[in-house]
Amino acid sequence: MILKACLFDLDGVLVDTARFHYQAWRNLANGFGFEFTESDNERLKGISRIDSLEILLEIGNIQLSESDKLRYAEEKNQLYLQYIRKMTGEDVLPGVRVFLSGLKQSGILLGLGSVSKNAAEILNRTDITPFFDAIVDGNMITRAKPNPEVFLKGARLLKTDPACCLVFEDAVAGIRAAHFAGMKCVGVGSPGILNEAELIIPGFLDLSWEKVVSNLIG
Ligand code: BG6
Ligand code: MG
Repeated sequence: MILKACLFDLDGVLVDTARFHYQAWRNLANGFGFEFTESDNERLKGISRIDSLEILLEIGNIQLSESDKLRYAEEKNQLYLQYIRKMTGEDVLPGVRVFLSGLKQSGILLGLGSVSKNAAEILNRTDITPFFDAIVDGNMITRAKPNPEVFLKGARLLKTDPACCLVFEDAVAGIRAAHFAGMKCVGVGSPGILNEAELIIPGFLDLSWEKVVSNLIG
């Protein structure tokens, strides 16, 4: 296996926005009068905004008209935007910049594969846009993870065979999307949740590309 490109999920991998998504959804659920737990929230990771709302409504056993669904999805997003508009370069997760710089030095292409429609704003606010040779976000795809569209599009933009791409993901849906795309995946987070990934890391601190490759290939 010759790896030529890495595709990164954004929320929960490069920046800690997963907790902002959770806080905003929890706020909405509490407004409806029910509790929304962190384990409920795992189901929303990598899932589009509107599909996330559908899952939340199912958990709370709440029925809404289509127009109300759009209204509440927008309400959640406005709350979420309040959090991300306070983000700066300090919010990039530990070790991420050093790891991305190391990949560039090793000649590996870098792509972003996020289903978030807010990805460009987050990348710009945290000042990591220039690392990426290709960016695919929620405005450029029609199907969220676990559909492989976001990663296949990333590979295409990088002009790289999917089999030569490695994905970094914090969500089960994202790991499945990588596998459906024919790519190997590094899970970033807890082994208990991400056990379908080929390799699991707690984060990027003290991680080098050489370490990743040797752990993947053995
Ligand atoms: C993903 C998150 O990256 O983006 C999901 O893991 C989120 O939790 C999805 O629902 C869509 O994000 P946004 O910013 O377009 O609402
Ligand atoms: Mg994520």
